[in-house]
Amino acid sequence: MKRVGVFYATKEGHAHKVAERVAAALAERTLDVAVHDVSDVDASAVLTQSDAAVIVGSVHLGKHEPQLIAFVKAHRLQLDAIPATFLSVCGEQAGAEQGSTPEARAKSAANVSAQLQTFIDATGWHPRHVRPIAGAFAFTHYNALVRWVMKRIAKREGLPTDTSRDYDFTNWTALDEFSRSLAEELKGSSERASPH
Ligand SMILES: Cc1cc2nc3c(=O)[nH]c(=O)nc-3n(C[C@H](O)[C@H](O)[C@H](O)COP(=O)(O)O)c2cc1C
Repeated sequence: MKRVGVFYATKEGHAHKVAERVAAALAERTLDVAVHDVSDVDASAVLTQSDAAVIVGSVHLGKHEPQLIAFVKAHRLQLDAIPATFLSVCGEQAGAEQGSTPEARAKSAANVSAQLQTFIDATGWHPRHVRPIAGAFAFTHYNALVRWVMKRIAKREGLPTDTSRDYDFTNWTALDEFSRSLAEELKGSSERASPH
């Protein structure tokens, strides 16, 4: 059975939810899936034994988590040798998909591309699949300053600004669809040559 390592880095928990959802969809399609925070002590060993990898990370202030960048840089040759997918969980993608005006959506889409390019420049990694995923705004969990900043960002992106509730902008149906087609692709690709 093909082994898929799903590795994530998160600040407020949403990228972990995305990682678990992808893992569940892959496992449903008879892949052998392990989910790990990139900071777990055994994450590197699990990657060594994986036939494929899915890397999930969120964006704050234009950048992906430093521990995610460190993990990808440390394992870039391994990632280059197997089918690997990168899912970037971010607020800008929510704006690109759901912003209230064409201008707001276009600006957010440009910001998504810039954030992805910053990640590629920082890691030198060119994943086989790259997919931005609209994240969540956890207004009720932010401190007052972050809530204020995020409300301004939401307004700029043409997203809702009611800070008395949280918003989940992820299109879970589309993510499941993506995971299904990834599972089919991985099942069709050859397994690693060396036994492990
Ligand atoms: C302080 C802060 C800064 C953020 N900065 C960005 C940003 O620069 N670009 C972006 O696309 N999203 C940004 N976001 C939105 C997050 O990417 C989004 O909330 C995501 O779901 C967080 O994922 P996590 O829960 O896995 O950390 C920011 C969120 C917070 C709280």
